[in-house]
Amino acid sequence: MTDSSKTRELFQRAMKVIPYGVNSNFRYWGEDDTLVITRGEGAYIWDADGRRYIDYRLAFGPIILGHAYPAVLEKVRQALQGGNLFAWTTPWEIEAAEHICRMCKVDKVRLTNTGTEATMHALRIARAHTGREKFIKFEGQYHGMADYFMFSTAGVARGAVGSRRSPIDVPMTSGIPKAISQYVINLPFNDPERLQATVRARWGEIAAIFVEPIMGNVASVMPAPGWLETIRSLCDEYGIVMVMDEVKTGFRIAMGGAQEYFGVQADLVTYAKALGNGFPIAAIAGKEEVMMTIEPGHMAHGGTYSGHAVGAAAAVATLEVLEAEPVLETINQRGQMLMSGIGEILAEAGVPGVVVGVPSMFGILLGTDQEPQDFRDYTAGDADLYERMAMGLIRRGVQPDADGREPWFLCYSLSEQDVAQTLTAFEEALKEAKG
Ligand SMILES: Cc1ncc(COP(=O)(O)O)c(C=O)c1O
Repeated sequence: MTDSSKTRELFQRAMKVIPYGVNSNFRYWGEDDTLVITRGEGAYIWDADGRRYIDYRLAFGPIILGHAYPAVLEKVRQALQGGNLFAWTTPWEIEAAEHICRMCKVDKVRLTNTGTEATMHALRIARAHTGREKFIKFEGQYHGMADYFMFSTAGVARGAVGSRRSPIDVPMTSGIPKAISQYVINLPFNDPERLQATVRARWGEIAAIFVEPIMGNVASVMPAPGWLETIRSLCDEYGIVMVMDEVKTGFRIAMGGAQEYFGVQADLVTYAKALGNGFPIAAIAGKEEVMMTIEPGHMAHGGTYSGHAVGAAAAVATLEVLEAEPVLETINQRGQMLMSGIGEILAEAGVPGVVVGVPSMFGILLGTDQEPQDFRDYTAGDADLYERMAMGLIRRGVQPDADGREPWFLCYSLSEQDVAQTLTAFEEALKEAKG
């Protein structure tokens, strides 16, 4: 047995002053398994007992380059020398916005701090732009912690979402006013007929269709061919604002995110995570006409910390490295090795399983050979087997999330040697988990 005494001692201290010892519920894995991390560098993190892990959680996706990445730290230090926040525009913000406009082919950008702030404001902009109040989202998709979005996310029981013909909007948490559910319409992902029927019947009420282009909170389930195009054309036909939530896919699956990868341009896009390599910076971006709905005194977007120098400088540095170096090519090559290596190990072990998504963020379903098309399909997989396998990997120094809905994320610092070590550990952990 490895010694976990320092980690456990620190976690007990945390539990005394922080509910469940964590600052975000998603990080709580129980009293025995929640880690305390003291350091990260490149593709690795170390816990308080000095154990090293190859990190595939990457803080739920933001770390695109690697932990403590020197070029990002250097620019952040430079920014900090001049102070962080002034409630005036800074050159850092201008530079960050110029990068985003160029890379993502959007006209205008407003910076925020978190993905939640970005999606929350995107919804307000869409409502103000259309004069309509409701919006469509897809089951299993997560758009942050604002009340409006917290229905039928991947955190609710599969059985609770009802029949495909008449989906139920299920709250993910206590504490949300019941009345708010009247503003959200949850539909199955990749189901164009149901979407068309709903939009044709109710378009006059619908301000926006929110979509994660890849299901970043359901094991990276991919959009079926034509799915995003269907959303685009319905939005065009009925004057609905298409909002692509690229909080997980942005600056990760392609330089211009999912818009570039799938060749579909939304009206509004939300970015966060990979934009700042771990620093708190996010953005709402999009077409001139829709973004200019924001108007001082009339349509509110704001925040004391929006565009602070540290976050904006981190974005500038991260995007500079993305543009100057073969970041995504390298990640894709390593990710491809992992995806095909894992597929081969599953086949050799005779364990049914599918590896879905893209090399920079992919998911693994065990216990089924069917590629899932939506949240409803995802539950056909064997989540318990996946969790046992993931915990076995963690004991071997390889850290994906224990929850199979969370994709494996890759960073630029991950080496081929790390990939080889991961595949060896995967083979052992799978064998142990299936018993
Ligand atoms: C697709 C998506 N949108 C929005 C959010 C919310 O972002 P944040 O946690 O920065 O508020 C997340 C977080 O995981 C996400 O995955």
